[in-house]
Amino acid sequence: MCNQKGGVGKTTTAVNLGAALCERGRRVLLIDTDPQANATSGLGYPSRAVERSVYDVLVLGRPIGDVLLPVPAVPGLALAPASLALAGAELELADLARREFRLRYALEAVDGYDYVLVDSPPSLALITVNCLVAADAMLIPLQCEYYALEGLSLLTHTHGLVTQELNPELEIAGIVMTLYDPRTLLSTQVVAEVRRRFPDHTFATIIPRSVRLSEAPSHGLPITAYDPAGRGAASYRALAEELLARDALVAV
Ligand SMILES: Nc1ncnc2c1ncn2[C@@H]1O[C@H](COP(=O)(O)OP(=O)(O)OP(=O)(O)O)[C@@H](O)[C@H]1O
Ligand SMILES: [Mg+2]
Repeated sequence: MCNQKGGVGKTTTAVNLGAALCERGRRVLLIDTDPQANATSGLGYPSRAVERSVYDVLVLGRPIGDVLLPVPAVPGLALAPASLALAGAELELADLARREFRLRYALEAVDGYDYVLVDSPPSLALITVNCLVAADAMLIPLQCEYYALEGLSLLTHTHGLVTQELNPELEIAGIVMTLYDPRTLLSTQVVAEVRRRFPDHTFATIIPRSVRLSEAPSHGLPITAYDPAGRGAASYRALAEELLARDALVAV
């Protein structure tokens, strides 16, 4: 999940798409690379309580397997948590050899998952570059609001730089429109504009603005466990189906 803009639904999408994929029997590894540790706390682990985290992986070179935490509410989901230490990682990484490749190398040793979802911080600095170098594809959550489109050109520019210099295989999985409110004209206009400009790269699924989605993390639960019958859960299940259908096409 990548977007340098804050609060667009990266973490909400990482957690709930992950949970929806697990419901469909997939094994998912969720990696929280954001020093804010929202995915970690949203799955029930207050970041102060986390001892070993993605910091140890990125900076100290510890295997990811050593930092994993189970997520009891979501069978099939493993969490590589973030911790406060990650706040310093940006600076510490700067001095390390192959500093853009630390996550990629760590993931090479990982086996046994159908999907690895990486939640990235709202910046395009080294931690995010590590995410993009490690990834097969970037999934871009985009809030249905006016400035969303401006941020998008910076993001496609970054995609260009990364594919030129560091990870030629990096694809754009697609744009997911989030925080959609059908009552506002702006929401519908932004969706129409994004679809017009990126017809091949916009998911059909739209994530609605839903109070339940914003409440779930405070209970340490993904939406599929907190409000399994609600609109939010249905939307992330639909997104998971869309992703699975595409990947099935690619595999054939
Ligand atoms: N579809 C939604 N409906 C209602 N609230 C939402 C929805 N998606 C996200 N939120 C809420 O909006 C806020 C920002 O969402 P989220 O943390 O997922 O964004 P983010 O892109 O990860 O933010 P950051 O850039 O700070 O990491 C959170 O409080 C979250 O609970
Ligand atoms: Mg986040």
